Amino acid sequence: MNKKSGIVFLAVVSLMLFGCPPKEAQQGGGATTSAAGGGGEILVGEYGSLTGPQATFGQSTHNGIMLAVDEINAAGGINGKKIKVITEDDQSKPEEASNAVSKLISQNGVIAVLGEVASSASKAAAPECQANKVPMITPSSTNEAVTKIGDYIFRMCFIDNYQGPVMANFAIQDLHSTRAAILTDMKNDYSTGLTSVIEETYQKAGKQIVAKANYANGDADFHSQLTAIRAANPDVIFVPGYYTDVGQIASQARELGIKVPFVGGDGWESPKLLEIGGKALEGCFYANHYFSDDPSPIVHDFVQKYEQRNKVKPDALAALGYDAARVLGDALKRSGGKGGADLKNAIAATKNFAGVTGTITLGPDRNPINKKIVIEEVKNGQLTLRKSIEPK
Ligand code: PHE
Repeated sequence: MNKKSGIVFLAVVSLMLFGCPPKEAQQGGGATTSAAGGGGEILVGEYGSLTGPQATFGQSTHNGIMLAVDEINAAGGINGKKIKVITEDDQSKPEEASNAVSKLISQNGVIAVLGEVASSASKAAAPECQANKVPMITPSSTNEAVTKIGDYIFRMCFIDNYQGPVMANFAIQDLHSTRAAILTDMKNDYSTGLTSVIEETYQKAGKQIVAKANYANGDADFHSQLTAIRAANPDVIFVPGYYTDVGQIASQARELGIKVPFVGGDGWESPKLLEIGGKALEGCFYANHYFSDDPSPIVHDFVQKYEQRNKVKPDALAALGYDAARVLGDALKRSGGKGGADLKNAIAATKNFAGVTGTITLGPDRNPINKKIVIEEVKNGQLTLRKSIEPK
């Protein structure tokens, strides 16, 4: 591709993704406005997987963030100053995530960072934020270690120590499972962490893990792992992985005659899941942060606004991105638009914030105290709500 057609191609891709030219990306680098000072703008960085195997994670999160920021700005901004989001694509690669965040902090001078979705990417980039005292909010990384990196690192979602037991108990109680297999993405901290918790809960309940197999994100052929799993004759297969792999795993399993349900975590959530997995996922289940057909006014209102803008239903990533940007906006108002320790303390003080994914109160560990969790089921080719577990 020559240079000119490359630029046209990028512009077209960006139009397809965001429905607008990549203005945030173009304005990156060389921004001289003082973030909290008299420049009239507050600079916020966003890093995410806008391309690569987890592309819908980053795209949906971006759309949720931009909806929230446009609303905050339309309502007068932060004490009269507008929030400007500078977005970096990490291509679904943890090493790029860390580069993206150092660039946002050192070149763009952002005073807060939103991202990532994937726990491995958040873990790779969070130390940059912590070292520079720039608060980071991950909307959706569920691995326990992420917020332990330091007191500048926050999240909006439940953690895997909660999600894993919900998945294991669902298999035992609702699916009457007694013999499970687990298929783990070894290159993914989320997948390995969730695997341990599922395994522990399942075995403590006196049930047997009859097979364990591994893969690496991006693999295309799962036949040997699935053949070994088939030989162990499980009644459920846990796949705590991401949607692109899950879709292919399910398709190949059905080809091999494996009929038992797959049970997954939030990493299955994507508008592409059923496109890739199709009929192979019928009768399968996964845990999630919200259900987009929830009739409650706050969800309904968000879904309507988002659909009008983006012409698709918001997935959980969009909802968590929206919540993260709104919690940040609320904290910025309380810090008087200041960053650093003032902003960190303001975010930490978030209490009873009415989010789309539930009421958000941050605990001393910078994780929300109580979040609801839903289990979705693929039924007649659609995502349906199987059950909703309300916070205690
Ligand atoms: N929880 C996943 C992780 O930590 C990311 C994710 C969240 C994916 C929500 C989909 C939906 O890696």
